[in-house]
Amino acid sequence: MSIRHILDTSDLSVEELKDVLALAQMPVAQLGEPLTGHCAALIFEKPSNRTRHSMEVAVVQLGGHPVYTRGEEVGIDVRETAEDIAQVMAGYHAFLGARVFKHDVVQRMASVSSVPVVNMLSDVAHPLQALADVLTMQQQHGELQGKRIAWVGDFNNVANSLAQACVMLGAEFVVSTPPQYRPTESELATINALGKGSAQYVAVPAEAVNGAIAVHTDVWISMGEESVAAEKAAAFSGFMVTQDLMTRAQQGACFYHCLPAHRGSEVEAAVIDGPNSRVIEQAHNRLHSARGLLAWIFQQQGAVVKENAQS
Ligand code: CP
Ligand code: NVA
Repeated sequence: MSIRHILDTSDLSVEELKDVLALAQMPVAQLGEPLTGHCAALIFEKPSNRTRHSMEVAVVQLGGHPVYTRGEEVGIDVRETAEDIAQVMAGYHAFLGARVFKHDVVQRMASVSSVPVVNMLSDVAHPLQALADVLTMQQQHGELQGKRIAWVGDFNNVANSLAQACVMLGAEFVVSTPPQYRPTESELATINALGKGSAQYVAVPAEAVNGAIAVHTDVWISMGEESVAAEKAAAFSGFMVTQDLMTRAQQGACFYHCLPAHRGSEVEAAVIDGPNSRVIEQAHNRLHSARGLLAWIFQQQGAVVKENAQS
C-alpha cells in the first residue's frame, strides 16, 4: 500500500477531497478511534495557535496521543537532516505533521517516511487551512460548484492551497494581487487542471470581488518574509479588504481570513469584526477538517498503522 502524504490539497483527488469534507462533518463518535495506541509527531518550525491546537485535539479525539516538538529542538537540517528525523520518527508515530519554512523540507521528509507526512504549513502550501476554508464556505453558501470566490491580497501558501480546493470543487476562484505578486499563467494552468472549476487573475480588486459570495484575504507578510516587509506593505497598499470593497461583492457575501489578522493592513477592522465575517467559524472548522483528514488517512492506511504497532 502506498503511503498517502498530504503536502498540498492536490495530493487528494476530487472525490477524496469530498470524502474528507464529509468525514469532517461526521460526529466524532462515528469515526471510531483509529489512532488508539498510537502517537503523532507534530513538529513546528514556526509559531502556531490554530494548527497546533486543532491537530492536537483531533489526534486525541481519534484516540491517539500528540507529541509536540519545536523546530529548534530537533534542529531540522541543523542538528540532523530532515530525512534522518523523518525516518526515525516514523518508527514511533502513526503520522508526522510538520510546519516548515521551506516546502522542500516536507517533500524530503515524505520521500523517506514510512508513515504519512502532513504539511501543517510551508512557504508554498497550507492544505489544512484550505480544508477548513472550503468546509466553512459550504456550510455558509451550499455547494461551491459555479460560485465565485475572490482572494484579494498576497497569493501565498494559503491562497495556493485554497485555489486548488476551489477548482477541485468546481468553483470560480479569482485572485487579485499587485502584478509582481500574482500567480504566473503556468501556475494558474496547473491549478486549473485539478478540477472543473477555474482560477484566474484579475488585477483590480473591485472587479475581482464582483459577484463573489466569499472574499478571502491573508497577511501581506507571511512568517519568514520579515526581511521584505516594507516593500510588500507598500506594494499591497491598495489591496486592503474594506467595507467599500465588500459592497462590490454579491449581496450577503462573507469575509474569510485564516488568522492571525492585521486590522488596518490587509483588512479593515469593520469588515473582520462585522456581521459578515466568518473567521471564527473558519478557525473552529480547523478542528473538524483536521479530524476529517486524519480519519480519512487512517481509513486508507489502517494497515500501515497496525504494521508499525506490531514492529
Ligand atoms: N491559520 C493558521 O494556520 O493559524 P496558526 O498559524 O495559528 O496555526
Ligand atoms: N500566510 C501566513 C499564514 C499563517 C497561518 C503565513 O505563512 O505566515
